[in-house]
Order: sequence, then structure tokens, then C-alpha cells
Amino acid sequence: MRFKKHIKILLDALYTYYMCKKFSGLQIQSEAKIGFGTKIFIGNKGRLVIGQSSYIGADTTICANSHIEIGKNTLINKSSRIGCAEFIRIGRGVMIAHGVSIYDNNNHPVNFESRYKIAEHRYTSDLISWEKSKKKPIEIGDYVWIGMHSIILKGVNIGRGSIVAAGSVVVHNVPEMTIVGGNPAQVVKYLS
Ligand SMILES: CC(C)(COP(=O)(O)OP(=O)(O)OC[C@H]1O[C@@H](n2cnc3c(N)ncnc32)[C@H](O)[C@@H]1OP(=O)(O)O)[C@@H](O)C(=O)NCCC(=O)NCCS
Repeated sequence: MRFKKHIKILLDALYTYYMCKKFSGLQIQSEAKIGFGTKIFIGNKGRLVIGQSSYIGADTTICANSHIEIGKNTLINKSSRIGCAEFIRIGRGVMIAHGVSIYDNNNHPVNFESRYKIAEHRYTSDLISWEKSKKKPIEIGDYVWIGMHSIILKGVNIGRGSIVAAGSVVVHNVPEMTIVGGNPAQVVKYLS
């Protein structure tokens, strides 16, 4: 068991080193680690900063076409997805459970003619680019906890210390120190 743990630590360290060599836009602060198998894509204008002692769980996918900042001591669990075309800031001490999606853009145009053009051009048209979809920055405050399989969509600010209940879809701002849940997520409890 202990042997397995050491192998994992070693693999994560090697993988983190490999990713730093691969992407000039990746900045890893001390003791931060990227889990082995995490998929990271950083575009020409992209940047990804991972704060001190933070950990990105294996199998997570992060696409930084623009700027993503992750504060210190933040944990992103397995199989989450972060897609950035504008700006995403995740604070310090944030816990993101497994299977969470955070997208600051719609991915595709809402207008069906534009989407059909993408199909007609066999998905090679410029319109497929996130740049062509609506986008707004996301800010996730310090000490927030996001429950498993939740979705955080464009333009959302989540206040410090708040909790997003499992399976929520967050489309509106969340005040500090509250629990929100549901689709669309609404305040279900105030935290003292
Ligand atoms: C629906 C979607 C495309 C947004 O379309 P849009 O035209 O930009 O819509 P807006 O952001 O202006 O939102 C319109 C209303 O719908 C609500 N809304 C948007 N997405 C919602 C969702 N997923 N669940 C519930 N409500 C939602 C908004 O809060 C807003 O309500 P309000 O006026 O009361 O504030 C986007 O929110 C979405 O769900 N994207 C998912 C993309 C995806 O699944 N990509 C995967 C890869 S293909």
C-alpha cells in the first residue's frame, strides 16, 4: 500500500515536470502537482497558474485558451473539466469534487444556422472555436466547496466560503457563506 502511494507521488512529480516542459504557459508554484493522466491544453493566448501546494486530480481535463488562475491549497478531484475562453479564477483552499464542469463560455453558437455551418464544414469551420461563442469570466472565491457532478457556467461568481450542493447547475452569482443547490442553483441555507 505504502509502495503504491510512493509510486503515485513519483508519477505525479514526473508528470508535473513533463507538463511544465511541454507548455510555456503553465506556471506551477512550489509543491503544486498535476495528477498523472490529467489532460492539459494551453492555447497560444492561454495561461494556467497553479498555486502553491494545489493538486489537480488525475483524469481531469483543463483547456486554457485564455487565463486560468488557481490559488494555493486548492484541490480539484478526479474527472473534472475546466474550459476557459475568457478568464477563470479559483481561489485558495477551494475543494472541487469529482466530475465537476466549469466553463466560462457556451462552447458553440446558440444560433442554429451557425451551428449547422459547423456541421456542413465537417467541424473544421472557425465557428466551432470557443472564441465565437458567448463568454464571461468566472470567479470562485476562497474556501468554496463544489459538490460532485456540479456545473458552473459562464459569468458566475461564487462568494467566499460557500458550498455548491452535489449535482447543481450554477448560472447565477452565489453570495458568500451560503449553500446553493438545484438547477438553476438557488440558496438553500445560510452558513454562519
Ligand atoms: C444554454 C446555454 C447554451 C446558454 O445560452 P445563452 O443564450 O447564452 O443563455 P443565457 O446565458 O443568456 O441564459 C438565459 C437564461 O437561461 C438560464 N440558463 C442558462 N443555462 C442554463 C442551464 N444550463 N440550466 C438552467 N438555466 C440556465 C440563465 O440563467 C438565464 O436565465 P435568467 O434570465 O433568469 O438569468 C448554456 O448556458 C449552456 O447550458 N451551455 C452548455 C454547453 C455545453 O453543454 N457544452 C458541452 C460541449 S458541446
